[in-house]
Amino acid sequence: MQSIGKGYFTEENSVEVVIARNAETADQRLKFILEVITRKLHEMVKEIEPSQAEWFEAIQFLTQTGQLCNEWRQEFILLSDVLGVSMLVDAINNRKPSGASESTVLGPFHVAEVPERPMGANICLDQKGEDMLIHGQIRDTAGNPVANALLDVWQANDEGFYDVQQQGLQPEFNLRGMFRTGEDGRYRFLAVKPKYYPIPDDGTVGKLLKRLGRHPYRPAHLHFIIKADGFQSLTTHIFDPDDPYIESDAVFGVKESLLANFKRNEDPAQAAQLGFKSWFWDVEFDFVLARANS
Ligand code: BEZ
Ligand code: FE
Repeated sequence: MQSIGKGYFTEENSVEVVIARNAETADQRLKFILEVITRKLHEMVKEIEPSQAEWFEAIQFLTQTGQLCNEWRQEFILLSDVLGVSMLVDAINNRKPSGASESTVLGPFHVAEVPERPMGANICLDQKGEDMLIHGQIRDTAGNPVANALLDVWQANDEGFYDVQQQGLQPEFNLRGMFRTGEDGRYRFLAVKPKYYPIPDDGTVGKLLKRLGRHPYRPAHLHFIIKADGFQSLTTHIFDPDDPYIESDAVFGVKESLLANFKRNEDPAQAAQLGFKSWFWDVEFDFVLARANS
């Protein structure tokens, strides 16, 4: 018989009794995690003092959140996003050396196995939206160009939808592409200006946001995953600082260092050179990768 020596459960000693019950846990990391969870959960319940009805409502909320999850939808990640937990886990796991570009959330709309395109290609396959040139350089923290870096980019269209949300309406792989840098570390591609969009808000997370008086919008952004041998992989975005939701991102993904400058270029000759009709948005943004061992 296991000896626990903490007596019977009472409101006052609830934490000690439960932690003592887990004392024999062989996996020390699991033991530590359960200890912290027990302490924080009991503290939360003692502070909130939920009624039985409120506790049941919480259980139902979590049950429905789980029931919404399937191969394509992860409502629990969305919940973690709107509570700021995804960004906190991201921050803890991506502490970068000074000068390196900051990371932000991956989001649910990344697609693996996207076609690699020649540098300079247009990732907008349906000619809808305001033309945009995006270019810059991938460097290390000492300022040297990073050759052979693979950029995986994806973005919503000018109506705020990813291709995977509008299958049949948008071409497959619309506004997605992989690009590989040469010796100069430079990248360059054409696209259209993205628009703000709501995170999926027809489930439990959407209901919660409504009850909290919060909107579900993410400010306009482009997603990047940048990988290169010898460097830490960087999952990040660049944001439009003039977006109406730039200061109230539903998932807290905005960082000041990720605000890009969306400049209007009205030079018809430069537009024509890029194959654009008249004017275009010119976005220049450099990324700095941290060494794998830093
Ligand atoms: C996204 O940017 O694609 C995203 C991130 C978190 C939740 C929903 C969408
Ligand atoms: Fe996104």
